[in-house]
Amino acid sequence: MALPQLSAPRLAIDGGPPVRDGRTPWPEWPQRADDAPQALLSVLDSGRWAISSPYRGELAERRFAAMFAEYTGTRYCVPTDHGSSALVIALESLGLEHGERVLVPALTWTASATAVLRAGLVPVLVDVDPWTGCVGPDAVDPTVDARALLVVHWACGMADVPALSSVTDPLGMSVIEDAAQAHGARWQGRAAGSLGRLGCFSMQQGKVLTCGEGGAVVTNDDALAPVLEELRADSRRYRPTPREGALELVDTASTMGSNYCLGEFASALLCSQLRLLDRQHAVRNNNYQRLAAALSGVSGVRLLRHRPEQDRLSLYEIPIVFDPLPGDMGNAWVADALSAELGVHVYTPRVPLSRSPLLRPWTKPTVTPLADRFVAVHRGRTYPGAEYLSSHSILLHHSAFLGGERDMDDIAAAVEKVADRIRSRTARPRVGAAPLEVGHE
Ligand SMILES: Cc1ncc(COP(=O)(O)O)c(C=O)c1O
Repeated sequence: MALPQLSAPRLAIDGGPPVRDGRTPWPEWPQRADDAPQALLSVLDSGRWAISSPYRGELAERRFAAMFAEYTGTRYCVPTDHGSSALVIALESLGLEHGERVLVPALTWTASATAVLRAGLVPVLVDVDPWTGCVGPDAVDPTVDARALLVVHWACGMADVPALSSVTDPLGMSVIEDAAQAHGARWQGRAAGSLGRLGCFSMQQGKVLTCGEGGAVVTNDDALAPVLEELRADSRRYRPTPREGALELVDTASTMGSNYCLGEFASALLCSQLRLLDRQHAVRNNNYQRLAAALSGVSGVRLLRHRPEQDRLSLYEIPIVFDPLPGDMGNAWVADALSAELGVHVYTPRVPLSRSPLLRPWTKPTVTPLADRFVAVHRGRTYPGAEYLSSHSILLHHSAFLGGERDMDDIAAAVEKVADRIRSRTARPRVGAAPLEVGHE
């Protein structure tokens, strides 16, 4: 029987007038710092475009490493060419045996898991809390016999690393934070990336701190820091005292490394962009508060839940969860409907890694033995929290939060309009049924 259509304004996706006319632009991304051109030109003229070059004055890469260590409140920062390679060297630095297991959330970008395989280890996917998007302490199943937990701060949420560590420490597991989406997020005043044994970042184009392609590992661990340096520079480290005209990297060779070095142009750009980051956080977070207030009265819609210990958000992607959703109005439809209302790209999260086409290790012959173990360990596992978020939320990119209050009002109006339409389709008595039927509060 067809459900009754209650009156709701015609959506832009159906040819109705959009909430926002196409003439009002959204903020661009990336936004370059004022001094970025000068920073790039100075590298151009420096004669040093790579860290593997003869010494002729300080490298931008060294400057960025010092700045980012200070920003994250850590003693060491090793920049890398990508966030993925940051994860690979962080995992390699732990000195685990080939084939050992690492817990990875099922809801994350594929690199969180492929990095584990690249390091010769087996990722074991664990579910996330559908309220926070991150893993909680009950995801750490001691029977899996994992040696490390790679915890992802997802979208704009932050996992409770202290609580996770209180479970993993007695099991002898290391916690690596994948903070690729969380530069500058803070938990009781401590920066994302500084709470676990190692923290990894991506500076790829879409991230809040970007140089196009880049990454970094931070740590307070005196023993791991020199190992990380060698792992990303073909077994070489910086000379303690550089000599004019001589290579600054020297073959220390205690661990076989690879070349994951960050180039000098990217490093110089990061120094400039980092100076902007906190101002951008302030703008985005103010706007987020306004949106949260506006959406608090819209039924059937919620934002991620943030724990009070998270005292600063880093908005990378902003999930808005629609629950419930009728069968013929999935979140892909919601994303398209919102895009049509707003004239900005609204999209859905990826499917959980358990069924992601991007995570199929058996397609790569060089990882075959690991792929077999990967398949075996996942038999019978399910991920209701990750499935729920991936099928009920839509994402907005952080750049949409770099404008003014009017932008937030438009987003809220569009969400309300689409939610009204959904309610008109789901307007049947729901006796005592909570919309969110997975996970727990
Ligand atoms: C959670 C997470 N981990 C790792 C990465 C990989 O970073 P990169 O693309 O710089 O290799 C990303 C990038 O999107 C990410 O979002």
